[in-house]
Amino acid sequence: MTRSFEKVGVVGLGTMGAGIAEVFARAGLTVVGVEADHEALGRGRSNLESSTGRALAKGRLSEAEQAEILGRITLTTSLEDLADADLVIEAIPEIMDFKRTLFTELDRICKPSAVLATNTSSLSVTEIAATTGRPGRVVGMHFFNPAPVMRLVEVVHTVVTEDGLAEEVAALARRLGKTPVSVGDRAGFVVNRLLLTYLNHAAVMLENGLATREGIDTAMKLGVGVPMGPFALLDLIGLDTSYEVMCVLFQETRDRRHAPAPILRELVTAGLLGRKSGAGFYDGEAPPTPPAAGKPTVTSVAVLGEGAEEFAARLGDAGFKATTTQAGADATGDAMEDADVVVALSHTPVIELAARLPHPGRLVGLHLVGDKLAEVASTVLTSPEATCAVEGLAKIVGRVPVHCKDRAEFVVDALLYPYLNDAVRMYDSGYAGMDDIDAAMRLGCGYPAGPFETIDALGLETVRDGLRALYAEYRDPAFAPAPLLDQLVTAGVRSIRGLS
Ligand code: CAA
Repeated sequence: MTRSFEKVGVVGLGTMGAGIAEVFARAGLTVVGVEADHEALGRGRSNLESSTGRALAKGRLSEAEQAEILGRITLTTSLEDLADADLVIEAIPEIMDFKRTLFTELDRICKPSAVLATNTSSLSVTEIAATTGRPGRVVGMHFFNPAPVMRLVEVVHTVVTEDGLAEEVAALARRLGKTPVSVGDRAGFVVNRLLLTYLNHAAVMLENGLATREGIDTAMKLGVGVPMGPFALLDLIGLDTSYEVMCVLFQETRDRRHAPAPILRELVTAGLLGRKSGAGFYDGEAPPTPPAAGKPTVTSVAVLGEGAEEFAARLGDAGFKATTTQAGADATGDAMEDADVVVALSHTPVIELAARLPHPGRLVGLHLVGDKLAEVASTVLTSPEATCAVEGLAKIVGRVPVHCKDRAEFVVDALLYPYLNDAVRMYDSGYAGMDDIDAAMRLGCGYPAGPFETIDALGLETVRDGLRALYAEYRDPAFAPAPLLDQLVTAGVRSIRGLS
């Protein structure tokens, strides 16, 4: 018999809990929101009011509708009020001991038929379920921040979940207007396993001084089309949550890339938790501004590499004396000798070329990504004046410059390719199908395309070669191309999605 979910409890009314309560109430369900004490309940109430108030301010909700939604939500500090709920979902902090204690209590209080769900981002649902006398009726129901906006819900089943329950919970998610993706119980599930690994990688990159916080955020937004750069997103998720998720991932995998970047620990310890505490990587909610580029003071520019002619022509139109040259035999030729700066259009490091020039300080690498971004790579020999001039030139050709060190794959591809590789490994492990992984990343994170769609768009060989370059540079085994990707390239297969 199909269960009916009409009354739900939400325990914990922080950012996620309040968002989840709103989602249930919007779908017409009766909601009981529980917080630990009156102070926390007050914060929960204001979370609910500000989220629905936002929709009201945008004219997407009338005052009457807002009142109706909020009227469906009762707030309490007593778990006992959940006795007759059909489903209870918790969204308390990501600490296993807290969850175990809560589920033991919920199991005692809630009616035997009630389903207990956790919104955990990464903790073991199986372990949480084992603290109850009804492990078959404990599932994960993982929403994404902001819960009212993001369409994905990961429905997590364990080896002991009752037959048919995951489908019923998925049907409930559909009733809420969400798209469910059903997955097994593995740290990070689909999205956080891929997303947080990438965000942590960005934090490591920042610590290594590859580029600035604003630069990395700008590069990913403009170069990949993600709605938020990694640091703005870490601030949205919460640095404490992100840190906890990384710890759980590391515990399970012992993969060095899952060890939380030290800067996360430092910020969390300092109480800088992101938006919820008013500051994290960024202060307040101010969106990152693209880095300023200096006005080019140069007059003559030598350009080489793929697309040099077009680039030089654009500079010529803008009044510069721009000549094209080749990286090979005439690397020390007149054009390079005389130019104020040398722009090497390249997607690989340019130090080897710089080292062969008479004036290596004048050479700057420029990687044009998509049609909006230019990664400006300066080598250890590049002069600050040359870097500044090339940032200005990039602006003149209509691109936003992001300065970075001269390292394999610079910023965008260095972050993108390992994420794509992780997705291939996830698929190859049998954990989730390509369509589900693609949908999860699109609907959970607002990505313009899922990883497999992205691999097909970029070309399998391009991604494989980029990973090889990253592996050669950093010697991290996780950057070595997934065997499946390598084999597909060798076999001449052009679409990875053709396999699914
Ligand atoms: N609550 C309710 N609604 C919100 C909201 C919030 N906090 N933030 C934005 N919205 C709504 C707005 O009202 C607006 O709605 P309309 O278009 O209908 O008017 C819409 O969302 C877009 O908002 P904005 O125009 O203000 O801003 P935006 O276009 O920059 O979008 C965003 C904001 C939706 C957050 C977008 O930047 C985005 O999709 N970012 C990626 C978020 C993401 O990756 N989330 C997953 C994080 S991982 C996670 O949560 C799992 C975990 O376990 C850690």
